[in-house]
Amino acid sequence: MRLLVTGGAGFIGSNFVRLVLEERPDWTVTNLDKLTYAGNLKNLRDVENNPGYSFVRGDICDPTVVSEAMADADAVVNFAAETHVDRSIHDPTGFIETDVTGVYVLCEEARRQGLTTFVHVSTDEVYGSIEDGAFSETDPLSPSNPYSASKAGGEMLAMSYFKTFELPVVVSRGSNTFGPFQYPEKFMPLFITNAIDDEPLPLYGDGLNVRDWLFVEDHCRALLFLVENGVPGELYNVGGGNERTNIDVARAIVDRLGKSNDLIKPVKDRPGHDRRYALDCAKLEQAGCQPLVSFDDGFARTVDWYLANEWWWRELKTGEYLEYYKRNYENR
Ligand code: NAD
Ligand code: TYD
Repeated sequence: MRLLVTGGAGFIGSNFVRLVLEERPDWTVTNLDKLTYAGNLKNLRDVENNPGYSFVRGDICDPTVVSEAMADADAVVNFAAETHVDRSIHDPTGFIETDVTGVYVLCEEARRQGLTTFVHVSTDEVYGSIEDGAFSETDPLSPSNPYSASKAGGEMLAMSYFKTFELPVVVSRGSNTFGPFQYPEKFMPLFITNAIDDEPLPLYGDGLNVRDWLFVEDHCRALLFLVENGVPGELYNVGGGNERTNIDVARAIVDRLGKSNDLIKPVKDRPGHDRRYALDCAKLEQAGCQPLVSFDDGFARTVDWYLANEWWWRELKTGEYLEYYKRNYENR
């Protein structure tokens, strides 16, 4: 198998590249990544000399780049995206470009070159918020912010390439993912690294929003499962089965780090903030794949990883990050 991974220098993509190189040593992996603020080759420095791995810097919106990168590939897994909801509220432009137009460019080229598998990595956020129960794959989409709306556009476009052109598209809808190498603008790594530095933890609204937390290894295992077993034209929910309120996660972080709850600082809510995400993952389970890592285990490993790897995150919290931080948090 010759795999083209897009966005492999980001959080989930880099964990996925590492998993594939470990578990499928006879495969090759090409990582096509634009290296935006969220892309970081240090995420992959332990595999950069692996003979099965190569890196190409480029934009999935550029048909020439995509055509060349796909020329030697059998299958694509598309992680490349703008991913942070708060940034999409400040400026959606890049989200529409990468998360919609980029998917179109990839699908078009995959169709032209006759790829055998196209796994598109989407998100549970396309469903919007749910008060009770859990979303299944047949529920309608109702995204609430420019990030989730652009992801909904991207996956619908990908599915249309299955229906119209028989491109073998498989879509995953993963829930909130956590673990090593997550850029410290997202909730968990932001709160962990702020707490290490005794900085306030800016909790949006009443802190009672619920997310279903999925450990990154389990998310990556599910995606590898879908590369090999996903049925073309099908969508799959990928959840962790770990619903937690944000305030509970924030308290668990300060507890594990031996800090005070006083660091948790309620701030003005995010506009359009979805109250609760929950997924019914029976379809993926029945196909033969389920998460293996408990929340407590994944959580402990995550907090401890950030404690042990300041070299990785400390330099990320400088420069442009500080401008973003000011823009997002200063007047909250
Ligand atoms: P991330 O922000 O950490 O990484 C995104 C990567 O994509 C970066 O390496 C970036 O450089 C690259 N990229 C961005 N625009 C590009 C472009 N135009 N061309 C090529 N590369 C580009 O994201 P992540 O958290 O690892 O998420 C990966 C995928 O999984 C995304 O599609 C996201 O929507 C989806 N997802 C994420 C979560 C989560 O909780 N993080 C949950 C479900 C689904
Ligand atoms: P986030 O990691 O941005 O993921 P998403 O919005 O895609 O679910 O946020 C997770 C939850 O944490 C969400 O309910 C918003 C909340 N949150 C805060 O309370 N404070 C913050 O500073 C951030 C970034 C998120």
